[in-house]
Amino acid sequence: MRSLRCWRRKSRRQCRDHNDRDHNDRHDQTERERIVRGFKIAPVPLDLKGKDPELVGLGSYLVNAVGGCNDCHTNPHLANGGDPFQGQPKQINATNYLAGGMAFGPFISRNLTPEHGLPAGRTYKEFKEILRKGTDFDNPGQLLQVMPWPGYQEMSDHDIRAMYEYLRAIPPATPGS
Ligand code: HEC
Repeated sequence: MRSLRCWRRKSRRQCRDHNDRDHNDRHDQTERERIVRGFKIAPVPLDLKGKDPELVGLGSYLVNAVGGCNDCHTNPHLANGGDPFQGQPKQINATNYLAGGMAFGPFISRNLTPEHGLPAGRTYKEFKEILRKGTDFDNPGQLLQVMPWPGYQEMSDHDIRAMYEYLRAIPPATPGS
């Protein structure tokens, strides 16, 4: 957005440069804040080897603070005594974190933790298609149910990539019961 003050005081060109700089600064600051917060809220140790830490941090922010993936993909999703709905301080179930196994009628959330280094055993191309189109690679021709991909499909490539990198960095785990 052009600032009115800027237009009055400066030439058109100077003004545009000024606004671009302003805009980029603000953009960087927002992204930095998300990355820092992402690292702070990750409930498990992260393996950053061979990964872009900025993407991992942003991915943690998107998975843990925005996407609500834990609510359905960790069973049970909260640790004993860590239920904020009971007024207890929130504590995520780190042992089974994102390992799936929660039943929604006949549909069971899947394990998102790395298998041979790939989140849920999926390549990035497959992961992107899952989030954009709900493709069920385990059951050809079917669409994933319950999983809120009709919402996630609107996310940017950058954000989807960040979530993928984060899921690559979490420890492999098995579902709880
Ligand atoms: C409302 C519950 C719910 C939420 C929230 C949710 N999922 Fe899912 N997800 C599921 C269920 C259930 C399935 C399996 C659906 C089926 O079997 O048809 C699934 C499947 C998946 C799959 C397919 C895995 C495979 O093996 O092919 C991926 C990847 C996935 N979810 C990622 C995510 C991510 C990332 C988030 C957060 C951004 C998320 N999900 C949030 C319920 C959820």
